[in-house]
Order: sequence, then structure tokens, then C-alpha cells
Amino acid sequence: MSLLEGIVITFRFGVLMMMSLIAGLINLLSFIFPPGKKSVSGEIVLITGAGSGLGRGMALSFARLGATIVAWDINKEGNEATVQMIREEGGKASGFVCDCSKRDDIYRAAQEVKSSVGHVTILINNAGIVTGRKFLDCPDDLIQKTMDINTNAHFWTTKAFLPHMMEQNKGHLVNIVSAAGLMGVAGLADYCASKFGALGFAESIRSELSIQGKSGVHVTCVCPSFINTGMFNGAELKNTTMLGPDDVVREIVAAVQRNQFMLVLPRSTAVFNNLKGLIPQSLLDRSQDASGMHHSMDGWVGRQGTKKEK
Ligand SMILES: NC(=O)c1ccc[n+]([C@@H]2O[C@H](COP(=O)([O-])OP(=O)(O)OC[C@H]3O[C@@H](n4cnc5c(N)ncnc54)[C@H](O)[C@@H]3O)[C@@H](O)[C@H]2O)c1
Repeated sequence: MSLLEGIVITFRFGVLMMMSLIAGLINLLSFIFPPGKKSVSGEIVLITGAGSGLGRGMALSFARLGATIVAWDINKEGNEATVQMIREEGGKASGFVCDCSKRDDIYRAAQEVKSSVGHVTILINNAGIVTGRKFLDCPDDLIQKTMDINTNAHFWTTKAFLPHMMEQNKGHLVNIVSAAGLMGVAGLADYCASKFGALGFAESIRSELSIQGKSGVHVTCVCPSFINTGMFNGAELKNTTMLGPDDVVREIVAAVQRNQFMLVLPRSTAVFNNLKGLIPQSLLDRSQDASGMHHSMDGWVGRQGTKKEK
């Protein structure tokens, strides 16, 4: 390593330390003086993929806060069960079967929601799938489907519901992304691509809203690591337990109520992201190796319980 390279690395490290210190200070201040939470009572909250996992958890939580829930899922049974659970607790909910991999089905269901429930004021793009294989072993149709559900569906739901939010200058877009939308992971190439896409889309929409003066329409991106919902059964990171779905749901609801833009869970995951571009790739590789990130999918079996062969 030349002297100049050494100076550049030391400088970058200094910048990183300074940024971490400032971020830590801001976090500490917002921990001591948390921003007030907005009420979601009376809001119409549409959640895609509401038939299980995080989607069901968020539907129940927002309903308990007085929101009217619009549950979408391709899984009719799971979706109806979520709606039933909310109604049994005295909440308001309606369910719609929608295949979020199909643009026409999204527009059809959106029209039905507008005429039978009303204008959606909080849109939560949550439906997602994972193929869980090394890229060259992923069948083309599954790669396409991953992009259609995890990324493209966000375009069509946003086109369907954002215009009314902008007219009212009031609303909230919530995109359930993933920590895999912050860094590439071996065994998750198509999933990471779809989540990077979803994050880039949300960041751009936030900027478009900002330059158009729509300060009343908020955007929240959620980037969690592995959560114990079943989707990532068998995946693991060294010395790290999976996040609990209830904890993640609680954090998401609080982030929405505080109009927080980025929610990265666990917060330590954000460190890897901040290191990108600041330290040499070889050092980043080593820190990722130490976490077992690139072997985290080796034992993945997902909800079906076995790794499907090609
Ligand atoms: N579980 C994790 O470790 C984890 C981590 C980070 C991000 N996420 C993301 O969180 C979101 C929710 O995941 P989860 O863990 O609750 O998984 P999940 O499988 O329990 O929920 C996903 C839901 O999406 C629905 N869905 C799938 N394809 C659909 C389609 N074509 N149309 C409509 N609905 C469809 C499923 O039926 C299911 O109800 C996903 O976007 C996922 O990528 C999950």
C-alpha cells in the first residue's frame, strides 16, 4: 500500500467515524426526545400481502389504532383469516384477492377499493417472494415474478393511489424493502435486485414529492434483516438471531406514525451500508465474511421446508 493510499484510507475512516458520531448523536437525541406520533385513526390503510407474516401483523396493529384496513393477497384463505381476526377484535377491514405480479389485476382491485371502500391514505407495499437459489439456478419465470411482485407492483399501486394523496397533500407510502435492498448477498441476486429497485423507486418518489411541495405525503422504507416469519426458514447469519415479527411490526407502525423515512433493522445493519464506498472493498468483504452474510442462504428452505432443485 502506498503512502497516498494510506492517507486516503485514514481520511475516509476519519469521515466515517465523524458521520457515525453525528448519526449516533442524532439517534440519541431522537431517543431522548422522540418526535410525536401522528394518529392513524380513520385512515384507510391498504396492505399488500396481508394474508400472513408482517402483512397480517401490520393489518392487526393499524386496525387496533382505529384505521380501516384494506387487505390484499393472492392467498384468499390467509387474507380472509386476517380480515376475520380484525373484525373479531371490533376493527374495520375488507379483503380483496389480488395477484400483485399482474398490473391489470392491481388496477382492477384498486378500482374496486375506490368504489367500495374509498381513497387509500396509507399504502403499504408488502407482498414479496424469494426464490432462494444461486442466480444461475433460478428459473427465468421465477426471476421475472420476483421483479414483478417485489418491485414492479410498487409502480402500479403507487400510480393507482398516489394521485389522490397528492391532490389532498396528505398520505403515506410505505415500502417494505429489506436489508437485501442495501447490499448484494450471495444466493439472493434476483431478490436483492428487486429490493434495490424498490428502494430506488421509493427514494425517487420521495424526492419528486419534495420538489413538488407535497410535504403532507410521506414515504417510509423498511429494511429489515431476516425475520422469523417462515419466508427465510433455514437462512442464518453468524451470532445473530432472526428478528421477531411482532417487534418488526411495532417498529414499522412507530416509524409510520413518526413519518420516518428509513427504518433499518437491526440498526447495526446500517453500519455495513455506511461502510460501502468509504473503505476498500477487500475490508468490506472481510467484515461481510465475518458476519457469514454470503453463506446465510446456504441452509435456506423457506416455507415449503425443502430446497427445491433446478
Ligand atoms: N421474512 C424476512 O426475513 C424478511 C426480511 C426482510 C424483508 N422482508 C419482506 O417483508 C415482506 C413480507 O414478508 P413476510 O416475511 O411477511 O413473508 P410472507 O411470505 O409471510 O408474506 C408475504 C405475503 O405476500 C403474499 N404474496 C405473495 N405473492 C403475491 C402476489 N403475487 N400477489 C399478492 N400477494 C402475494 C403471500 O401470499 C404472503 O401473504 C416481503 O416483501 C419480504 O420480502 C421479509
